[in-house]
Amino acid sequence: VFDVDVFISKCKAAVEYGNGQKEINSLVKNIMSEPSNIIKTFGEPTKAEVQKLYVSKTLTILHIVWGPQMMIMPHDHQMWAIIGIYAGREDNIFWRRIRGNEKGKLKAIGAQSLEARDVVSLGPDVVHSVTNPLERHTGAIHIYGGDFFNEPRSEWDPESYEEGQYNVENTLKKFNTSNCDL
Ligand SMILES: [Fe+2]
Repeated sequence: VFDVDVFISKCKAAVEYGNGQKEINSLVKNIMSEPSNIIKTFGEPTKAEVQKLYVSKTLTILHIVWGPQMMIMPHDHQMWAIIGIYAGREDNIFWRRIRGNEKGKLKAIGAQSLEARDVVSLGPDVVHSVTNPLERHTGAIHIYGGDFFNEPRSEWDPESYEEGQYNVENTLKKFNTSNCDL
């Protein structure tokens, strides 16, 4: 079984005394290698949600369940991020600002489809959008090297690709909408 409290302690130690992002990346890879253990702890993912497991100024640990075919517009984090998937699939598109564009417009530079057991480690400047392409829920653990809910950062309008201020409430609303759609 995946022990949430032990995991939190190890992540805190990695940030405070250890090798931070690199060490947590290894921890998450290790945990994601047995997805059934995580399902034993959280249950099969059936409800879209952002569950705060731990939040401090230097570390945020979230259990995230994406609803079927849910989409999150392009955004950056302004802190490192590690994403591990234990059920379903999470398709990432990676973006870059078009040089010289005063509205901060984006162009796509790559994509990565993640499924159970996959882990990615992202730098603070990475811009990505996320889609669950499946008809069922996707379960993930996301870890960030800062306070995910209070760090000012950017998101991009999915229609115009113009840069704006990230609104965490709008993102959280999408999880509720996803549950209402079912
Ligand atoms: Fe993200």
